[in-house]
Amino acid sequence: MNIDGKHFRTIWVDDDEWTVGIIDQTKLPHVFETRALKCVGDAAYAIKEMLVRGAPLIGATAAYGICLALRENASDKNLEAACQLLMATRPTAVNLRWALDEMMHCVRSLPREKRVIAAYARAGEICDEDVETCRMIGVHGLGLIEKIARAKKGKAVNILTHCNAGWLATVDWGTATSPIYQAHAAGLPVHVWVDETRPRNQGAALTAFELGHEGVPHTIIADNAGGHLMQRGEVDLVLTGTDRTAASGDVANKIGTYLKALAAADNELPFYVALPHTTIDWSLMDGFEIPIEERGSEEVTQMSGRTAEGEVITIDIAAPGSPAANPAFDVTPARLVTGLITERGVCAASLDGLLGLYPERGE
Ligand code: MRU
Repeated sequence: MNIDGKHFRTIWVDDDEWTVGIIDQTKLPHVFETRALKCVGDAAYAIKEMLVRGAPLIGATAAYGICLALRENASDKNLEAACQLLMATRPTAVNLRWALDEMMHCVRSLPREKRVIAAYARAGEICDEDVETCRMIGVHGLGLIEKIARAKKGKAVNILTHCNAGWLATVDWGTATSPIYQAHAAGLPVHVWVDETRPRNQGAALTAFELGHEGVPHTIIADNAGGHLMQRGEVDLVLTGTDRTAASGDVANKIGTYLKALAAADNELPFYVALPHTTIDWSLMDGFEIPIEERGSEEVTQMSGRTAEGEVITIDIAAPGSPAANPAFDVTPARLVTGLITERGVCAASLDGLLGLYPERGE
């Protein structure tokens, strides 16, 4: 990702070779601020309070959380406790469980004195693999955009996206945004409709921030505007990410994704979901078994923003005393998903489709 011409990943190890650096996403888009994670508690806090967020980045942060825990105490007991602490931070993104399993597998059989070095090495690999995986998602997704661009004969391809499935949600590139960045770099005319994504506004605050820094033409819209734009022929493709995809192809993603899929189906528009293999939950054949995070009602009843004087404040927007519900994700059934874009290619949203790309899972 580029911030004012400087390349950043969303997570890194500092020059001291153990402190973990992150971008505090709760401060964006108003302030670009980095934070140092120095213990497993810092990593758990960063995930739970959404300083870092997005399924792949949650997994990468958890991996480094294990490194930080082992650095303090490399015992089995501490390893188990760190896993439990990190696992309890957020329930929906399956990359968290995947990364913790990877880290456990890497260090458990090692003697204590070898665990820290091995853990940092594996966490680093998880990050590097995520970057390459997301780059390849872009390569495969680019083909879809090219096809639409050819049919539109040079007119801009209008892509609607929801939430932030961009470089801020991964280590770099993003999932849904990777094909967009690669299309833009290849000189294809693209324009992105960015759902603001209430209640936390990941679209307006984060996706728009990213696209702006990469110079990709985009327009922020209220979440409710998508259906209208589709009816008017102003959307060519809906492209989102996912926090967990069941082996059946059912997709859990940020609340509101399902409504976009319904509107896309009614308007006969392609609805694609981009994901790395780390987001597939092979243990679930039914997306409705995916645990859906319930978040605090204040995210619905309040909003934060910057005043004309530059101060970032939080204000109440709802009738005082009214209760609010805040389910953070929804499940889009596979039948509404045109296809899944993975690092291995594009497939049908179904068990057969996924097994076609990941045959080792059927053995
Ligand atoms: O609650 P968040 O911000 O962590 O949720 C992230 C999303 O739902 C993203 O849209 C996403 O596509 C999954 S991460 C690539």
